[in-house]
Amino acid sequence: MKGIVAYDSVHGSTKSVAEAMFEQITAEGHQAQLISVKEHANGPLEGDFIFIGSPTRAGRMTKDAKDFIESLDPSYWKGRKVVTFDTVGPMSKDVEKRKSMMESFGDKSKTAASKMKEACQDRGIPVAGTMHFAVVGMWGPIAPEAPEMAKEKTHQFLAGLK
Ligand SMILES: Cc1cc2nc3c(=O)[nH]c(=O)nc-3n(C[C@H](O)[C@H](O)[C@H](O)COP(=O)(O)O)c2cc1C
Repeated sequence: MKGIVAYDSVHGSTKSVAEAMFEQITAEGHQAQLISVKEHANGPLEGDFIFIGSPTRAGRMTKDAKDFIESLDPSYWKGRKVVTFDTVGPMSKDVEKRKSMMESFGDKSKTAASKMKEACQDRGIPVAGTMHFAVVGMWGPIAPEAPEMAKEKTHQFLAGLK
């Protein structure tokens, strides 16, 4: 299979989550493509599944992430798996508190991943799941455990495709 990991990132945290997802997809023997939505020139994207990520800013996705979703071809992606993910914060500097906050985080509406899910669904593209990862300060850095959590969630997603 082939997966695309498309991300926007202002300070680098969402990019590091995207890189961890990309590594996991290739480690499990799939083809993968990692793209920054800022650098992606509109054109056909081909894959069996796509992860789309953005930092949460003011309860929303970035404009570049929104524009990227608007560039997707609904007739192509509605039959494939789409996952949205984001970074949120600042979360507790205490690792255990942070982990438990993220475990019970749920699908909060004022996050980039939820807004991206709505934006996809508004275009007729169903979303299979949303994922959230913690940053520890307003501008990052990413929580040290987040890349590993991204790999684990990606692994679970891939296991579900079988
Ligand atoms: C202007 C601004 C607004 C933000 N608003 C939110 C917010 O509404 N909710 C939230 O969880 N995090 C918010 N954050 C924290 C961002 O989520 C954090 O900077 C981001 O995860 C970093 O990801 P990046 O390094 O990929 O840009 C905000 C940060 C900035 C700078």
